[in-house]
Amino acid sequence: NEGSLWGARFASGPSPELAALSKSTHFDWQLAGYDIAGSRAHARALSTAGYLTESELEEMLAGLDRLAEQVDSGELTAAETDEDVHGALETALIGIVGPELGGKLRAGRSRNDQIATLVRLYLRDHATVIGQQLVHLIDALAAQADTHRAAVMPGRTHLQHAQPVLLAHHLLAHGWALSRDLERIVDWGRRADVSPYGGGALAGSTLGLDAASVAHDLGFAVPAENSLDGTASRDVVAEFAFVTAMIGIDLSRIAEEIILWNTREFGFVTLDDGYSTGSSIMPQKKNPDIAELARGKSGRLIGNLTGLMATLKALPLAYNRDLQEDKEPVFDSVETLEVLLPAFTGMIATLTFHTERMAELAPAGFSLATDVAEWLVKRRVPFRDAHEITGALVRYAEEHSLELDAVDDDALAAISPHLTPDVREVLTVEGSVASRDGIGGTAPVRVAEQFARLADRVRHL
Ligand code: ARG
Repeated sequence: NEGSLWGARFASGPSPELAALSKSTHFDWQLAGYDIAGSRAHARALSTAGYLTESELEEMLAGLDRLAEQVDSGELTAAETDEDVHGALETALIGIVGPELGGKLRAGRSRNDQIATLVRLYLRDHATVIGQQLVHLIDALAAQADTHRAAVMPGRTHLQHAQPVLLAHHLLAHGWALSRDLERIVDWGRRADVSPYGGGALAGSTLGLDAASVAHDLGFAVPAENSLDGTASRDVVAEFAFVTAMIGIDLSRIAEEIILWNTREFGFVTLDDGYSTGSSIMPQKKNPDIAELARGKSGRLIGNLTGLMATLKALPLAYNRDLQEDKEPVFDSVETLEVLLPAFTGMIATLTFHTERMAELAPAGFSLATDVAEWLVKRRVPFRDAHEITGALVRYAEEHSLELDAVDDDALAAISPHLTPDVREVLTVEGSVASRDGIGGTAPVRVAEQFARLADRVRHL
C-alpha cells in the first residue's frame, strides 16, 4: 500500500472499483496551486509552533516552490494511483524533499480542513473574474442606452403593449438587476472571508498551531470559530452557486428579449455578424445563438445549484464524503459563466437597434390610454370614471379601426363631455414618456440621472 495516505491500518489497498469511484483528481487538480499555498502557510505555522526548524522550514518552502513549478509547467500531473490532489501533491513533495521532511507537513491538518479552505480560495479568485465580467456587461448596456437616449419603444406587461418607455430606461433596468448580482458577489465575499484551516478532520488540533496566522497568510480575515462548522459547512459554496444561477437567470431574461426583438415580426434589432450564427441548410438565416445559449445555460446553472443543495440536505456533522460532490457543480457554474459573459457582452455591445421601428410601434395597441385616464384625473374626474371613459374610447377606436388621436371631436364628446379636443395633447409618445417624471420614471430627465447613479453604484461596490 505504498504511497497511500493511510496504509498501515489496512491489510490491502483499495479495490479497483473503490479507487475508480473515489477518485477526484480529474476535477480537484485545478486546486493544486491553492493546495500548495495552504501548505506554505501550514509549514510556517508548524515552524512557529516548533515542529520544523528554521532550516527545515526553508527547505520545505523551497520544495513547495519547486512543486509549484512542476504543477505550473505541467511536468507534474496526477498519477493513476492518486486519489485526490492533496495526496498527489504530498507524494510529489516527498519526492522532492525526501520522506523525512516531507512526512512532517501533514501534522495538524486534514484533507477535510484543507479542501474546505481551498474551495474558498478558488471561488474568491473566480468571484473577482466574474465580477469584472459583470461590470463590462453593465457598461455595455449603459453604453447602448447612452447612444439611444431619445429612442422610445413599447413597454410591455404580459408581453402586451402597455405604456411607451425609453429604450434607455429598458436597457438600464437590466443594468440595475445585474448591479445587484454584482453586489451579491461582493456580499458573498464577506461571508467567505473565513479560513477553515486548523479545524483538522473535525475537532481541531492538539499541536497549538496558529490558525489566525494561517488565515492571514492565505488572505482570509479570520479562522473559523468552530472547527465542525468550518470543515463541514458548504453554504458558502451553495451561495456562490446561487449567485451564478441568478446571473444566469438575469442573462436569460435579456436573452429572451433579444431573441424576440431579432425576429422578423419585431424587427427591433440586428445582431452583428461576429455575434450570430448561420444555418447549414438555410442560406438566409442569421441566428441569435449567444442569446439562446445564455437562455439554455441558465437552466444548467440552476441545475448545478439544486444538485448541490440536494447533496447538502440532511448531512449530519461533521465531514462526510458526500461533500466531495460540491466541487464539480460549482466549478461547472464558474466555467460556464466565464465563457458566457464575454460573448454575451460582445453581443450587447454590437447590437444595432432599429429605433424607427420601435418608435412606430410605441403608441400601438392603445398604449396611451393610461395617459388619457390620468389627463381626466388632472381635470378632477374620479379615476374610476376616468378608467370607464377611456375604456369606452378605446373600444370606439378599436371598432372603427382608429388610433386614439384620430377619433374626431364629435365622437369624443359623445363618449364623454369630459373628453374635450385638447385631450390630444397627451396623445403623443414623447409627451407620455416625458410626463412620467417621478423618481424611477421613464421621463428623459429621470433616465438621464440613472446613468450616473448606476455607474456610481457599480464603482462603489
Ligand atoms: N476529496 C475530498 C473532498 O473533496 C477531500 C478529502 C477528504 N477525504 C476524506 N476521506 N476525509 O471533499
